Amino acid sequence: MIEAPQKDKFSLSEDITYLNTAYSAPLSKEAEQIGIAALSKKSRPNEYNGVDFFEPVEKLKKLFAALIDVPNPQNIAIIPSVSYGIATVANNICLNKGDEIIVIDEQFPSNIYSWKKIADNYEASVITISAPETTTNRGQVWNEKIMAAISKKTAVIAMPNVHWADGTIFNLKAIREKATANNALLIIDGTQSVGALPFSVNEIKPDAVICAGYKWLMGPYALGLAYYGEHFNNGTPIEENWINRKNSEDFANLVNYEDEYKEAANRYNMGEMSNFNLVPMLTRTIEQLIEWTPQSIQDYCNDITKEAISELRLMNCFIEEDEYRAKHLFGVKLADNMNINRLQEEFKANNVFVSVRGEYIRVSPHVFNTKADLQVLVNCFRLAVSF
Ligand SMILES: Cc1ncc(COP(=O)(O)O)c(C=O)c1O
Repeated sequence: MIEAPQKDKFSLSEDITYLNTAYSAPLSKEAEQIGIAALSKKSRPNEYNGVDFFEPVEKLKKLFAALIDVPNPQNIAIIPSVSYGIATVANNICLNKGDEIIVIDEQFPSNIYSWKKIADNYEASVITISAPETTTNRGQVWNEKIMAAISKKTAVIAMPNVHWADGTIFNLKAIREKATANNALLIIDGTQSVGALPFSVNEIKPDAVICAGYKWLMGPYALGLAYYGEHFNNGTPIEENWINRKNSEDFANLVNYEDEYKEAANRYNMGEMSNFNLVPMLTRTIEQLIEWTPQSIQDYCNDITKEAISELRLMNCFIEEDEYRAKHLFGVKLADNMNINRLQEEFKANNVFVSVRGEYIRVSPHVFNTKADLQVLVNCFRLAVSF
């Protein structure tokens, strides 16, 4: 359980209200120091050893496997971005003419473009499940619409578990069951939740989970992690790098070219996966998340936001019902009598950092936030009401 705000672990300025981890998490002081030390080591390359290319990555994979409940860390790959992780998946899927790929309304583009591309190549189609117009039972109805769309034609369901703009939670267990019954693959973009919301691969059994590292994994930019399940164990990577081939540890023999890839997801690691600067930083931030536990982060965020959410609802703002929304990320749809320009001016004047995503103001707190931060936010909404 996280009893008190963890502000002292971060360098955020006292005069700002940062409610924008869904945009980018602040690096902890500890991870920053690790990064600085790692960067400075490049001035002394004589200190690098052959094992430095492999061992830190193995440690990172193990930690991520533990975080998302994957039994075998060899199913984890190091990726630079979600677009890369999704391209790997799309590159290893064969479709039939007329097949359908299901995606969700206003899903993040890195989990869209590869699907459009393979749909075009195979004369298949991308089906978008739009958000319901209603604000009553919106999360439930949206989930029902997804379930109803899955059919024998469905080859792939590519979606997040939490919507990146409004925080709606999707019922992946039920979706997985129907996907399995219809022989469809389930591919999850976990970027907006993994780290802050419990996620178990063992329980949900997705075919792949792709995560950027710089949001809820709290790591640096340009390093992410992916889980690739059994379906992808014998696939082909999108690039041919030396480190993903068998025996790449044997530097003296690298030009005895090797035809075989490494086991399971190791074939999908990005080139220069060993990134000596970023790997140790992300390793520390994931260790910290495991120490805190994602459930405690949910509980903490729930505790500091619930009063503010009640107040915003009383002001006629729409926020997804509690049962269907994440506690670390929620969208606030303005009431009819609120002025968005005025609201943005108030955010600026009060140094409040949130994001505007579609029709929603996305609020995404973390353990460095307090109830007082949420009150600053609510006051901005109050001042945006036009009489
Ligand atoms: C849901 C989601 N996926 C992925 C990303 C980032 O994608 P990429 O790593 O391809 O830049 C974001 C960034 O906002 C996101 O919100």
